[in-house]
Amino acid sequence: MKFFKVNVFILGFTMLIVSCSSVKKEKDVKHIDEILSSNTIKVKAALKDLKTFDSFPRTISKNHSKWEQVGVKDWCSGFWPGVLWYAYEFSGDQDLKQAAENFTAPLKTIAYSKALDHDIGFQIYNSYGNGYRLTGNPEYKKVLLAAADTLATLYNPLVGSIHSWPMKPQYPHNTIIDNMINLELLFWAAKNGGSKRLYDIAESHAEVSMKHLVRPDYSTYHLGAFDDKTGAFIRGVAHQGYADDSMWARGQTWGIYGFAFTYRETGREDFLKTAIGLADKFLERLPEDGMPFWDFDDPKIPNAPKDASAAAVAACGLLDLSGLVKDAKLKETYFNAAKRFIDILSSDAYLSKNNNQALLLHSTGHHPKNSEIDVPIIYADYYFMEALLRLKRMETNKNNS
Ligand code: GLY
Repeated sequence: MKFFKVNVFILGFTMLIVSCSSVKKEKDVKHIDEILSSNTIKVKAALKDLKTFDSFPRTISKNHSKWEQVGVKDWCSGFWPGVLWYAYEFSGDQDLKQAAENFTAPLKTIAYSKALDHDIGFQIYNSYGNGYRLTGNPEYKKVLLAAADTLATLYNPLVGSIHSWPMKPQYPHNTIIDNMINLELLFWAAKNGGSKRLYDIAESHAEVSMKHLVRPDYSTYHLGAFDDKTGAFIRGVAHQGYADDSMWARGQTWGIYGFAFTYRETGREDFLKTAIGLADKFLERLPEDGMPFWDFDDPKIPNAPKDASAAAVAACGLLDLSGLVKDAKLKETYFNAAKRFIDILSSDAYLSKNNNQALLLHSTGHHPKNSEIDVPIIYADYYFMEALLRLKRMETNKNNS
């Protein structure tokens, strides 16, 4: 009898814990929905001021409240259509869908023009890629496949990587850590009717980046300079970072995000090990408030500017990584770290609220050029929306399992 009572007690206690944790998860999803909902309202409000579909929000200068816009060729042109697709994905609002289509259409030319740089991925995958994922529009698929072929023209087989910035003649062949993100377009195309060569290029590019851009301690160079005739690695360069041997925050997060999906696409353990190494280094070096400075080695720290965009990219990469690693403890570490970034970005210290048209404050674009420092930047908003949607999906799946 006593044995029976104890068992009933344990069962009741377990049921109580399970039901408390499922109530908590439902509350978490509700909270994510609230943030996504207010973000969507802001995005819709900003639309009212954007009259031409081939001008795209990029940044808001200090003491201004409205988006400054750039043209189709700017590397940031795909983020605004991407934000609109994410806002539509969350809300199902047909006006947002129409706006996303309107701002996506002018980017088509990039897929069919001579490749200027690796940013084709940011421009086309964020706009047409999200559009195709959400609508299945066969015209979007054609543009994506053409864009992947165009990006592949920058591949140099002697080096084994994409020439990221042909407009910088001081580095005959350069490959930058940001370029890791744009391999996703190549992997996608190879699986969706494009040539198998696109997969091979992406895999080789990731190998070269792993070998030369990732340092032995798992911090990263922004740019690797190579001899374009022999393929030899010449040196690692800071470019947007503080110094050649410093750790530029956003670059580190492009790496986390890029190596995580490269592992997902290839199943290669060395890519997973790299993603984990980059993530651990990033988390280990964070300041106490949990938000990265623009470069972890700026001697002005703690008075250096922060970079909210790095936190938003990190959140996406860490959520992906938490779904890929097998170890339960690591899964939890990366999931909780991503959640912490999202919580901080969703706080009064980082949300733009009524100050301006953007979602987030405090990003840093190109510090060495004194450009876009501690301001709202569109890619922070894009990855913030993506992180919230990823987190919502993961929390909802947990609730349903
Ligand atoms: N060059 C892309 C970036 O600023 O992260």
